Amino acid sequence: MSGDYLFNAWYAAAACTDVAPGPTARTLLEQRLVLFRTEAGQVAALRDRCPHRFAPLSQGPVHGDTLACPYHGMRFGADGRCTRIPGQDRIPDAARVDAFPVIEAYGLVFVWMGDPALADPAALTAIAPYGQPGWGVSRGYDLFQACWQNIADNLIDPAHTSFVHQRTIGNDAGDDVRVTATEEGDVIRCGRWVDNAPPVPVVRRYTGLQGLVDRWQFYHYRLPGTTWVDFGAFEAGRPHTPEEQDRAPYRVLSYAFLTPCTRDSTHYFSLQLRNFAADDEATTREFEALYKLTFDEDKVLLEAIQREENAHPDLTPMRIASDTGVVRLRRRLAECLAAERAHAERPHTHTG
Ligand code: FES
Ligand SMILES: [Fe+2]
Repeated sequence: MSGDYLFNAWYAAAACTDVAPGPTARTLLEQRLVLFRTEAGQVAALRDRCPHRFAPLSQGPVHGDTLACPYHGMRFGADGRCTRIPGQDRIPDAARVDAFPVIEAYGLVFVWMGDPALADPAALTAIAPYGQPGWGVSRGYDLFQACWQNIADNLIDPAHTSFVHQRTIGNDAGDDVRVTATEEGDVIRCGRWVDNAPPVPVVRRYTGLQGLVDRWQFYHYRLPGTTWVDFGAFEAGRPHTPEEQDRAPYRVLSYAFLTPCTRDSTHYFSLQLRNFAADDEATTREFEALYKLTFDEDKVLLEAIQREENAHPDLTPMRIASDTGVVRLRRRLAECLAAERAHAERPHTHTG
């Protein structure tokens, strides 16, 4: 199961700041790509394989708007076409590499891994508060030695925070509170309110709230790899309305973008938006450290699970009540995989 990928989607491939000046090699969905930035500032994503004798283009230099092969100097533009073959005037049509559609957003480079004709910037998940006044941003990246589907399970699973993340975003108060899951369009939402509870460590740290609070945590998943957790707290007893949530002294929207690297390793890009201390660099650094600590707690578990699954490929997980989001996610994934395969197999007719 772990090698099942949805291809027609935007996948986070790199931080924008990673892509200049030289080329960057990245494996996405078991395919080796090279990213580079042209002189004009555009990010290009090409298959990392010269069509001549298959040298890795990522080891070559960028020349203007082209990337040169390190072996015999053939040059390729952002569209994958060869622009120069040293020692020869004619450039045959076969002198090209696959080029993948690219967009930059939210400080990340996203690559479309499927049919280029279907690449639509509108398919990228919109993050409304990003760049808005009052919202601070912190970021992270790590490579998990775990298959993307198991990480996806973790990101639609609020129940684990009470046990795994006691140092940061969880405490004992939530461990028996039921989670509920709903589906709205292509987003699965799974979460709960934990009422009349002592504030978890991060809320105490950044708000000074000492008394009891009502805290919400809603996990959202949009296949294949876009996830966000809406997490916040206010004084216990206030109405649970969107207006009160907007006014809460602590609210964090924590995004994670999962991109399969290989069958059992995954790029994990993260982005946290917070509604306080928006422009404070020290808070940004603290948040980056805090979320690294939190994700490392998941990573240790997920990598141990992966080793166990690799050793025993026939294991089937049992299900418990708090898996309601996981069950929906796996069902939805199976439907999406079937739909994508059916589309790929359908004969395409061209008219006009
Ligand atoms: S292998 Fe790339 S130019 Fe020869
Ligand atoms: Fe977690």
